[in-house]
Amino acid sequence: MNLIFDTHSHYDDKAFDADRDSVLSGLKEKGVCAVVNQGTDLNTSEFSLKLAEKYSHVYAAVGLHPECLDENSLSDIEEIKKLAVHPKALAIGEIGLDYYYDIPKELQKQVFIKQLELANELAMPVNIHDREAHGDTLEILKKYRPKGILHCFSGSVEMAREIIKLGMYIGMGGVITFKNARKTVEVCKEIPLESIVLETDCPYLAPVPLRGKRNDSSLIAYTAQRIAEIKGITVEQVLIATKHNAESAYNVSVEMEGCV
Ligand code: NI
Repeated sequence: MNLIFDTHSHYDDKAFDADRDSVLSGLKEKGVCAVVNQGTDLNTSEFSLKLAEKYSHVYAAVGLHPECLDENSLSDIEEIKKLAVHPKALAIGEIGLDYYYDIPKELQKQVFIKQLELANELAMPVNIHDREAHGDTLEILKKYRPKGILHCFSGSVEMAREIIKLGMYIGMGGVITFKNARKTVEVCKEIPLESIVLETDCPYLAPVPLRGKRNDSSLIAYTAQRIAEIKGITVEQVLIATKHNAESAYNVSVEMEGCV
């Protein structure tokens, strides 16, 4: 049975230009039942929808990533709203805050908040990017209270608990298999399996033993293996629970789509 639900991927990335179709169509033989491709701007949001139209196991999130902002971003949100009505658009994402790069914080917050308001208006979940912006991200999420996923979680156990209290899920990917992942391992240990969803962020962040190589959704098997070790349960238990969690985070039932 296919149990891998990849809640966060970027198959629009140029790393897949040479073999995107064979990678995506091959995933179903590698244990993958669903993939949500994240938009980062208008082009990649539209591209995500095109992939979702082509493959039954691919779904889309549409949104403006904090690294992709410019003077048109506020008006682009109107276009995101039009894309979000597509039946295979499951979420508004990837949206959030990135204080690692030198992008004006006020613009980031404004665009983030407008997209959270859009998600709430459309009753859609969100997929959140938070890089070195834990304080502001948490404050804004507490105020706007969207449903959805905090992707590639890099905060503390205390922050994870606050996110879970809001009814959101914690996204975990290849980072948890890295040698220096002490903080993420601790979060994984402390929070219930019921609050964890799996992801790749592919083509980036491939898990050990393929760290540094191109990532794809099938490699979630290694991430699940590491979580099973940390929690002292079987890989199958991890995959069954996280698939269920992802379905509930995105309000979708992948069995309906003819999942093997
Ligand atoms: Ni991403």
